[in-house]
Amino acid sequence: MCGIVGYIGPNQAAPFLIEGLTKLEYRGYDSAGIAVFDGKEINVEKSVGRLGILKKKIETASPNGHVGIGHTRWATHGRPSDVNSHPHTDCTGKFVVVHNGIIENYLHLKEKLIARGHVFSSETDTEVVAHLVEEYYEGDFEAAVRKVLAEIEGSYALVFMTEHDPDKIICTKQDNPLVIGLGNGENFIASDIPAIINRTRKTYILSDGEMAIVTKDSVWVMNRQGVPVTKKVFEVNWDAEAAEKGGYEHFMIKEIYEQPKAIRETMSGRLAKDNSTILFDELKWTQGEVAAINKIAIVACGTAYHAGIVGKYYLENLARIPVEVDLASEFRYRSPLIDDKTMVIVISQSGETLDTLAGLKEAKRLGAKTLAITNVVGSSIAREADNVIYTWAGPEIAVASTKAYTTQLVTLCMLAIYMAGLRETLPPARIQELIGGLRNLPAQAHEILEDVEPIKTFAQQYGFNEDVFFIGRALDYCVALEGSLKLKEISYIHAEAYAAGELKHGTLALIIEGVPVIALATQPDVYEKMLSNIKEVKARDAVVIGIAMKGDDHIHNYVDHTIHIPAAHKYLAPLLAVIPLQLLAYYAAITRGCDVDKPRNLAKSVTVE
Ligand code: AGP
Repeated sequence: MCGIVGYIGPNQAAPFLIEGLTKLEYRGYDSAGIAVFDGKEINVEKSVGRLGILKKKIETASPNGHVGIGHTRWATHGRPSDVNSHPHTDCTGKFVVVHNGIIENYLHLKEKLIARGHVFSSETDTEVVAHLVEEYYEGDFEAAVRKVLAEIEGSYALVFMTEHDPDKIICTKQDNPLVIGLGNGENFIASDIPAIINRTRKTYILSDGEMAIVTKDSVWVMNRQGVPVTKKVFEVNWDAEAAEKGGYEHFMIKEIYEQPKAIRETMSGRLAKDNSTILFDELKWTQGEVAAINKIAIVACGTAYHAGIVGKYYLENLARIPVEVDLASEFRYRSPLIDDKTMVIVISQSGETLDTLAGLKEAKRLGAKTLAITNVVGSSIAREADNVIYTWAGPEIAVASTKAYTTQLVTLCMLAIYMAGLRETLPPARIQELIGGLRNLPAQAHEILEDVEPIKTFAQQYGFNEDVFFIGRALDYCVALEGSLKLKEISYIHAEAYAAGELKHGTLALIIEGVPVIALATQPDVYEKMLSNIKEVKARDAVVIGIAMKGDDHIHNYVDHTIHIPAAHKYLAPLLAVIPLQLLAYYAAITRGCDVDKPRNLAKSVTVE
């Protein structure tokens, strides 16, 4: 997630801009920059890398001026580089913009602007916005910005400055946070409260579709049509640490709640408007290239591996390609049968997991085509693979992966549909049905997150058990594995996931009175068999919590408690069923007083083998 700051007032802007960006460093970024109006022109200083590099760059000649904006970039479109860093300017350098989010229709707009003679310097979607303001400016800065907002599609927090009207900053937001800090004779802008909390605790929290004209003495908020909006002052009473987590107690719960947005952002620009196909600008595969693939090998670790086993179902059932899934630490030691007809897909949130990177290099040595699915632009794995699809989940800070998993599943489902389209293995009606189902996911995930009390209660009730079992069949078994890992790694409870049909071959010996069993029953094809397995553990007096789809008014006769998820296509159920399990793990860890964000013995990115 990018960091945004802005200042207008009697003091030098640069010191606040750097101070504010420093407070936003925890969000993760790969480059930084500031732009300051010095009374005559706007000076832009920006560089790839840590904020310290930018500070060093300006320490000899800090940009002078009382109006400025700044940005730390988490790359989505365009790799980390000086030229792709924000702020971005138009052809004249007289309009400057910083942006957080994704402009979905930027390629179309960029082509139009190039045709009208605009010259671009970066690969980013953001630079299009700067050239659009230049295109529309006819003497009225506000009017030009409004025309831009009528043209762009996607999610954004945008802050604009211009030499033509230097005593104001204009900002607006859609699906990305933006706050205005209200000072005395000065005002501040930020994507996140930590950036301004040391300067003022009085803020306006902008809502979607609102636009603010900020001067040193005034803040005018209006809607996009220019109709004034009355804003209530929001008094921030968080301390600095709480502010970093957006008011949440831990990064993990913040990231669990970010999943609707992360899923939506990861799909943005990739679903055809008529649901007829998937659009991967980053993959220009031909039918011939996809037809030449006779096997896929998925290689990953931990949660990413659990996403990979769901990906196997998607790719085999939709694109009709055989798929093997390996733990990266095992893959290269089994002399895998890989050749130039194999596609190896590596999945990694951090893009730095050494086991996965080593597996990727081995796959390339064996001649495979390689594709990385990762959350970090320009990471080692992203740079090593032949192709990359980014999950646009934003930085994941908590050690326990949550939004990375659900956005990996979304990406794997989109990839399977994309390949099915090229291999003509799916009728158009089924593609439409699946893409329609994908579109519903953010709202369905949000619905689950609106009512977490029952899950919290279970976690408090069973959080002191030392053994917990997760059982499921087919895709439910895949989710059981992820739920078990979540519970293990942050609450230290010994949790095991088992294919429900496998219980009778051994594990049933461990099922005793009162042991909690989480039974996932979302898959229609194996539902009846799953009920039988639930009866097996109930017969041994286990306490069973069922995870089922809304509309299933049958399962409550078999289990002790039921958690319902919104009814969804069976292939999409894993993205929803995992959320109650993430919450269960989180609240169990809280109940046990564990360090949720930094569990013992674990690291966020495992860069050792
Ligand atoms: C997941 O909650 C764990 N933190 C861990 O299993 C993680 O998924 C694994 O280390 C892989 O990390 P990566 O996705 O960054 O490669």
